[in-house]
Amino acid sequence: MATVVVERAAPKDAFDVDEILRACFARPAEAMLVKQLAIDGDLVLLLIARDEASKAPLGLVALSKMHVAIGGDAAPSVALAPLAVLPEHRRSGVAAALVQAAVDEMRRASALLMFVLGEPGFYEKFGFSAANAEGFDSPYAGPYFMALELQGGLPCGPRGLADHAPAFATLEETQ
Ligand SMILES: CC(C)(COP(=O)(O)OP(=O)(O)OC[C@H]1O[C@@H](n2cnc3c(N)ncnc32)[C@H](O)[C@@H]1OP(=O)(O)O)[C@@H](O)C(=O)NCCC(=O)NCCS
Repeated sequence: MATVVVERAAPKDAFDVDEILRACFARPAEAMLVKQLAIDGDLVLLLIARDEASKAPLGLVALSKMHVAIGGDAAPSVALAPLAVLPEHRRSGVAAALVQAAVDEMRRASALLMFVLGEPGFYEKFGFSAANAEGFDSPYAGPYFMALELQGGLPCGPRGLADHAPAFATLEETQ
């Protein structure tokens, strides 16, 4: 099995990023999400996984800004999306390595919450749960809207808005 290294994507990685997104998502809208987040200044982190020996790209994960409130105060939070691994490299831990690296970075950056929209059976493996996202005001609220607490607890107070970056609305319009 290939040894996976996860690193921050640099401008020179643009072609690889495009290749991964096109191979993983049938609709161009998902491939556009990363570009739109970057254009809007909402991309917090883009990580790319590579085969350590060959440096071939294997997958990527993006994190973007969210506006989240707890007890009327801003709660620093990010959205994880998209997460994508090239079909021929799936089921060998590449996504797990990407999610772990993203979580580690955001813990170090003192973020409180990481939100995802996706399959509970998959994201629950990494500690995300719908219960952690419950009560936040989001158009995505429901069983597929999940969160991970990054610092082992949250401030007291009622849960308020959990707003994704505007690029996500564009994604919805094209569905
Ligand atoms: C979903 C996806 C990112 C998984 O990547 P991967 O590298 O194969 O995942 P991993 O090998 O790291 O697997 C991590 C865990 O999830 C499980 N898993 C992997 N794919 C899964 C799937 N489609 N459904 C449920 N569980 C899955 C693995 O068995 C593993 O669990 P384990 O630790 O208990 O063995 C990949 O299939 C993909 O890119 N799909 C297309 C894009 C997509 O749907 N992205 C997610 C929404 S944005």
